Amino acid sequence: MLNTFQQHFHDALPSATPDEAARQEFAKSLKQFVQQGILPGLGPVYKARATARFERETGRAPADRHDIRKAMTPDPYFQHYAAVNRISQELLWDSVIDSIDRDADAVDAQAKAGSAKNKGELRIPADFEVPRYVSALDIHCMPGGYNGRGADTDGVRLGALYDRGVYLYSMGYTGPDNDDMGRSVCNYIKRKLGGWTPKRILDMGCTVGHSTLPYKELFPDAEIWGIDVAAPQIRYAHGRAGAFGLDVNFAQMNAEQTAFEDGYFDLIVSHIMLHETSGKAMPKVFAECHRLLAPGGYMIHADLPPFDLMDPFTQFILDNETYYNNEPFWGAMRDLDQVKLATDAGFPPETIRFDTAPMAVMEFAAQQASGYSQEAADAVADREFTAGEFAPGGGWEVLIAQKAAA
Ligand SMILES: C[S@@+](CC[C@H](N)C(=O)[O-])C[C@H]1O[C@@H](n2cnc3c(N)ncnc32)[C@H](O)[C@@H]1O
Repeated sequence: MLNTFQQHFHDALPSATPDEAARQEFAKSLKQFVQQGILPGLGPVYKARATARFERETGRAPADRHDIRKAMTPDPYFQHYAAVNRISQELLWDSVIDSIDRDADAVDAQAKAGSAKNKGELRIPADFEVPRYVSALDIHCMPGGYNGRGADTDGVRLGALYDRGVYLYSMGYTGPDNDDMGRSVCNYIKRKLGGWTPKRILDMGCTVGHSTLPYKELFPDAEIWGIDVAAPQIRYAHGRAGAFGLDVNFAQMNAEQTAFEDGYFDLIVSHIMLHETSGKAMPKVFAECHRLLAPGGYMIHADLPPFDLMDPFTQFILDNETYYNNEPFWGAMRDLDQVKLATDAGFPPETIRFDTAPMAVMEFAAQQASGYSQEAADAVADREFTAGEFAPGGGWEVLIAQKAAA
């Protein structure tokens, strides 16, 4: 039985009228229906009729995800799936826009009030060039993208849209604060690098800081920076952290080339940023991580597992994001040799590895199911969770590398 969470309300989050909330819940449920009710039918359709048609037409069996796509796209069941999936994606953003635009001044004032409480810095440079891979499209169909165009580049509207929209997008599976990725990587650090306490932490591509804030919880004395190329996200992130009562620094900066000095950070993390960059940007990001890390410091990127870790049909399913969800680098990124990129950036090969950070939300859900007692918390602390037990996946794929000691 899968578990979903309602989003925790906080003072920077746009409020919804009952009608708006109902529409948002519908958008989330439709997405869930597509995932749980329609998607599972694709496998049988592929086996029962798409493969046979492909073989008839080409005289051979489908060999890879590209062949599977050719076999599946003419199929009416697949077309139905792809169309409803796209509609549910567009609908979820639309359902949030209504609550933001109803009282845009309040959304702005809430974020400013949060910012006033956050003693961390907020840096938005006067002239900043947003890379084309972010500015040129409405990523995952989010109207305006991260940085927006025209007036939307100034305020916090797109940050508010992301905060609520991404909760619906993930159908609640990333927890009540949308922070499962950060929380899971924090747990991973606690368990695998036990006792290590970084003093300065950088979260690249932080958007509204969902994954950034758990680091403040785990390392309360650390100086923490979230950076992103999108100003509306950064402004909102600063206000949201303040609404949570946390002092965290946020800056509009490009992870390919930041303004920090050499060796400034002990830990650099990112969470699902890399697949939204480009083939040219990724080597630069890795090189920048190496430059920014102090000797012995760690780089940890949580993102999509490489395609070579999964079967071609699963690759095909995931690659639908590339084709139908405005995620142009989604598939190509999974084909890259990231270990080589990290080696080329200067990380010693023996320190570079892929690993899985189990989803923290599964522990949270298990505790919730057993009533939040200390016994329950202790019981789940060391438990292995099975993928699908409380959430669709079992964990986040992390690429980890350590800079050589001085
Ligand atoms: C999917 S979101 C990341 C979500 C966020 N890390 C979290 O855990 O909630 C990707 C973010 O990466 C940012 N981004 C893309 N390229 C970047 C770059 N070169 N430097 C900094 N941020 C970048 C985008 O603006 C976007 O906000």
